[in-house]
Amino acid sequence: MYKKYLVIAKGPWILKGIDLAARRGAVTAIVGLSGCGKSTLALALNGAIPQRIPGVTEGRVMIDGMDTRRVSMAKLALKVGLVFQEPDNQLFLPTVEDEVAFGPENLCLPPQEIEDIVKRTLRILEIEKLKDKNPAELSGGEKHLVALAAVLSLDPEIIVVDEPTAELDDENTRLVLGALERLKNEGKTVIIVEHNFNNLTFADSILLMAEGRIVERIEGVRANELLSGKFDELLASQIK
Ligand SMILES: Nc1ncnc2c1ncn2[C@@H]1O[C@H](COP(=O)(O)OP(=O)(O)OP(=O)(O)O)[C@@H](O)[C@H]1O
Ligand SMILES: [Mg+2]
Repeated sequence: MYKKYLVIAKGPWILKGIDLAARRGAVTAIVGLSGCGKSTLALALNGAIPQRIPGVTEGRVMIDGMDTRRVSMAKLALKVGLVFQEPDNQLFLPTVEDEVAFGPENLCLPPQEIEDIVKRTLRILEIEKLKDKNPAELSGGEKHLVALAAVLSLDPEIIVVDEPTAELDDENTRLVLGALERLKNEGKTVIIVEHNFNNLTFADSILLMAEGRIVERIEGVRANELLSGKFDELLASQIK
């Protein structure tokens, strides 16, 4: 179980008075209009804010007792993996295989184990054929899949994905959502930022953000109600 109490600022406050806990083993979705702070929140969950992206922060983010301001990102990565909205920002090695092996190599695992992890992870996402490709030359959707594979290679308990399907075609969307749902069924905690409500049928709770705040928290059954159309109304009500 982890909890966070967070406010971040740079210039104007971007997140305001956010106080939330995400349930272990559940899928928590974050939705809201462009610019409301979803990615900022996601980047705060693995320590990227404030450790890599500076800003003025108040409050704290606690991941299983670890304060993300104080624990190294390398250590946090074993507990929480984040797939950025722009995966270009996290892919930097010459091959997909290298990207997926990078985390396990840093843990100094034996070569055979690393090879097994890479194989298994590429298989889960059905991207074995990309193994020898240069990530920089892949499509946006493929980059998302590779970044997700790199995150999964460390087997973190919490997986945060920021708009994972935004650039994917239907087939790859099905793959990614299927993988996330399987991870949930394996007991992982998934936090997904997603713009398409139809992709959230497996979410246990949905947080609606507006202007840096969480303005609604929708649990279980209500989420299903929203799937039948109310969500659009709710989002529309946020547009002034
Ligand atoms: N590095 C930064 N420095 C200062 N302001 C930033 C920075 N990154 C984002 N912002 C601002 O923070 C606000 C929230 O941005 P954020 O990217 O978190 O929104 P979002 O909800 O993820 O939007 P989208 O749906 O378009 O991805 C926006 O007003 C944005 O301009
Ligand atoms: Mg975003």
